[in-house]
Amino acid sequence: MYDGDGPMPADELRARVRDKDAVVGMFTDPIDKAFFDSAPNLKIVATVAVGYNNIDVASARSGGVVVTNTPDVLTDSTADLAWAMILAMTRRIAEGDRLVRRGGWIGWSFDFMLGSEVRGKQLGVIGFGRIGRAVAQRAEAFGMRVEHAGRGGAGMSLDRLLNTSDVVSLHVPLTPDTRHLIDRRALARMKRSAYLVNTSRGPVVDEEALAWALRERLIAGAALDVYENEPTVHPDLLKLENVLLVPHLGSATTETRTAMADLAVENVLAVLAGKPPLTPIP
Ligand code: 8YV
Repeated sequence: MYDGDGPMPADELRARVRDKDAVVGMFTDPIDKAFFDSAPNLKIVATVAVGYNNIDVASARSGGVVVTNTPDVLTDSTADLAWAMILAMTRRIAEGDRLVRRGGWIGWSFDFMLGSEVRGKQLGVIGFGRIGRAVAQRAEAFGMRVEHAGRGGAGMSLDRLLNTSDVVSLHVPLTPDTRHLIDRRALARMKRSAYLVNTSRGPVVDEEALAWALRERLIAGAALDVYENEPTVHPDLLKLENVLLVPHLGSATTETRTAMADLAVENVLAVLAGKPPLTPIP
């Protein structure tokens, strides 16, 4: 049990895992080859997250260690957050809040802080797994039509999706293929009136390129829940009004975090009892 602030230092993690049979870890823990080499008794790593890019899956497999994650239980809370961010960025909610707090609101006027509507526009979902589909389902209630681009060329091509969407929402896992999927080239393909939202993993977006695109008004706005080097945010983004910055809150509801913790523990209990895990990583 580690109750310090932030992740356990990696050397302490390696020292303390030496005699353990099971580990319940967070996505901030580096579960790498050195970790597995330090853990001869280990049978299961249960990560309390759906994303598992922090885990060296090949090392786990070669050491016969089961890896489980927490899919499904966080789908709705993450899709809800993506929508909260879509509406907040298109209607300039955080920007308006900052203005009010600094005493900058001098009163109502006809063309004051105009945003952009979503009805009748196209939502482009990149990555059409559980969360991407849940985001797409909610689009119906807001009158958006949905297109998607997915693995293996499913749906629209990425270029066409970027080129035609009014809101682009990212739902891919972080892999070598998706790192900096949204780079200068991709951003330059988007409509000048379009918005980008990222609730997946920070490195899917090249933050330096995004700051450039926002500064140059190549896109209208962006909303980020995840960052390349959390908790650091690229300093250029901090200077811009047209980007909404959320501190990795995708699954952060009491209900979902409780369900995630329960699922991780159930996976550990199953594996230690010699039963199959409930949610092994694919
Ligand atoms: C969590 C997440 O904030 O599940 C994921 O992959 O990024 C979020 O649900 C985080 O993983 C909690 O450990």
